[in-house]
Amino acid sequence: MIKASAPGKLMLFGEHAVVYNKPCIVAAVDHRIGVSLEKREDRKIVLSAPDINFKNYVALIDDLVKSHPKKVRFVLTSVFNFFEKYKIKSGLDIETKSEFSDRIGLGSSSAVVVSTIKALSELFEIEVGKKEIFDLAYKTVLDIQGVGSGFDVAAAIYGGFLLFVKGGKTIKSIKTEKIPLVVGYTGVKADTSTLVKRVSERLKENPKGINKIFEEIERIVNLAEIEMENQNWEKIGKLMSLNQDLLRNLGISSKELENLIRAALKGGAYGAKLSGAGGGDCMIAVTCKEEQDRVKKEIERVGGKIIEVKIPAKGVRVE
Ligand code: MEV
Repeated sequence: MIKASAPGKLMLFGEHAVVYNKPCIVAAVDHRIGVSLEKREDRKIVLSAPDINFKNYVALIDDLVKSHPKKVRFVLTSVFNFFEKYKIKSGLDIETKSEFSDRIGLGSSSAVVVSTIKALSELFEIEVGKKEIFDLAYKTVLDIQGVGSGFDVAAAIYGGFLLFVKGGKTIKSIKTEKIPLVVGYTGVKADTSTLVKRVSERLKENPKGINKIFEEIERIVNLAEIEMENQNWEKIGKLMSLNQDLLRNLGISSKELENLIRAALKGGAYGAKLSGAGGGDCMIAVTCKEEQDRVKKEIERVGGKIIEVKIPAKGVRVE
């Protein structure tokens, strides 16, 4: 049996603007998704995902892209794309195991796609480089979701902190220490496609204003890259708050996110922002070590749930 695992992610700077070819900064987090594979003698793909209550779901290898339930589509489409590219057909037993919920926006879909492709390359003894995994995994995510920059796929493959440009045009590692981050979950599931669409509608209505916001976000990302390497967390916090002002102006923040962000700042955080698509999911705050507990308490006091993460985490690996 072959097993591979890949980490989830947190967007630190640059969400949404990255869809329009601006850079972003992403961190891989230590919540991983593992995929175990074994060959079968028949033409069945038998998939179990106990964390999401899927046991022994059967798909035929000639029928992998038919309308399967959304929960198994990422794994089955990864298998389909891998088989197509490397001209393979084989029955498989697959089991996925997740250390985090698919409801909090930490990138479970991209992590499961990357783990599946890495495990398949090991099982069939095909050497597949990181950029090749990226291209195949990004195609798989786009096949299903239709939208996305691929930043989450890059984090799952390369790990660490990355400066990233859409489609993998830039994937650059940022050298820094662990960033003192607090993560608060709003309890609301965000729908990335809807929010990306909302921004594209705003861009159509007001191209000049929205492009100006994207340019400002790009400026913040470039400054943040330097300050991360300097490990100047106070500056990083200030840049996060500036990024949040721009995201609010884009219209993708929410009452719940704003409550948690306000609470983090009240608790003494250097700065805070939403992380990801907006509309819900998680917010992040940078604090000094001494204020971390106070920031967490304030977030909890207004109804947020603290998600304990260690960052940066290592990229995809065979277990
Ligand atoms: C979603 O987590 C981040 C977005 O920038 C979309 C993407 O980059 O794929 C909104």
